[in-house]
Amino acid sequence: MRALVTGGAGYIGSHLVRHLVDEGAHAVVLDDLSTGFADAVDRRARFVEGDIRDPALVRSVIEAERVDAVFHFAARIRVDESVKDPAKYYRDNVAASLALFDAILSGPARVVVLSSTAAVYGDPDPGVAALGEDHPKRPLNAYGESKLVLEGALARYGQAYGLRWAALRYFNAAGAHEDGSLRERHEPETHLVPIALEAAAGERTALTVFGRDYPTSDGTCVRDYVHVMDLATAHVAAARHLAAGRPGGAFNLGTGRGSSVAEVIACVERVTGRALPVVDAARRPGDASVLVASAERAERELGWRPTRDLDAIVRDAWRARRPRAL
Ligand code: UFG
Repeated sequence: MRALVTGGAGYIGSHLVRHLVDEGAHAVVLDDLSTGFADAVDRRARFVEGDIRDPALVRSVIEAERVDAVFHFAARIRVDESVKDPAKYYRDNVAASLALFDAILSGPARVVVLSSTAAVYGDPDPGVAALGEDHPKRPLNAYGESKLVLEGALARYGQAYGLRWAALRYFNAAGAHEDGSLRERHEPETHLVPIALEAAAGERTALTVFGRDYPTSDGTCVRDYVHVMDLATAHVAAARHLAAGRPGGAFNLGTGRGSSVAEVIACVERVTGRALPVVDAARRPGDASVLVASAERAERELGWRPTRDLDAIVRDAWRARRPRAL
């Protein structure tokens, strides 16, 4: 495989790049470093600093590197920011990605794997244990909407231009590479697992729990945490599936197992051996109470199954943060 990874200096993209080069694939990263980190890009990959909106650059990279599959991660990803500044999400996610797709279509590569999100579902229908891909999609914010618009564009482009595409709807990506050399880095950090580890490491005074009055077994929100290296294997499986001419579309990526915020805290305390300072606060606006994936389609069609549980997620994320701690 000869892969172009947009956003390959970001969290999930950099883990995919590592996996690709470990598997012997050729990877070229296109990233403008607006939120990514150049030092997260594996040295065996080629790194091009630039904008996905630059059609001449995209075309020249695809041609020079003889790219046959594009993994498109480059995006804004903050739900709260997308509520305050939706225009940024329409510009940087929708418009920029459409420009990227135009540039791809003018060249030879025909396989595109899009980073999508559980945020396309919004607040799921109550009582649904695990969401399948056909669950109603009612995004609550411009972030989720932006990914849904791009999925729709890819579906139409697939029919009209022969683009072979998959949209991988991640539930809660977490964890880090097992060897401790790559990790989740966002500035500012808003995600539960890295924040809990920062609190465990004493880099934060406390972890704030947003709401204990949800209709869940312990009152805290339930999410489906999926290991970032399991996501990496899903991308490769999806690209191979598309390259073999098999049907694409949307695939949920999760474990099918929900963990509450309180359970994540307990897991972090167990793995790190430290008591977490916790304070309670009101619900965070826009949080669904339960989001758990049914990833049956990915298992059936891509042959993908996550192999790492919440303990592995927390252990690997902790090791990557504090290499000598384990
Ligand atoms: N949480 C806390 N305290 C914190 C941070 C998070 O209690 O300091 C809680 C949240 O309320 C939520 C859970 O921990 O219940 C997980 O929150 P994250 O911010 O880690 O993740 P989200 O579920 O909000 O977001 C994830 C992805 C988004 C995606 C969204 C889909 O990170 O990209 O799922 O709903 F849009």
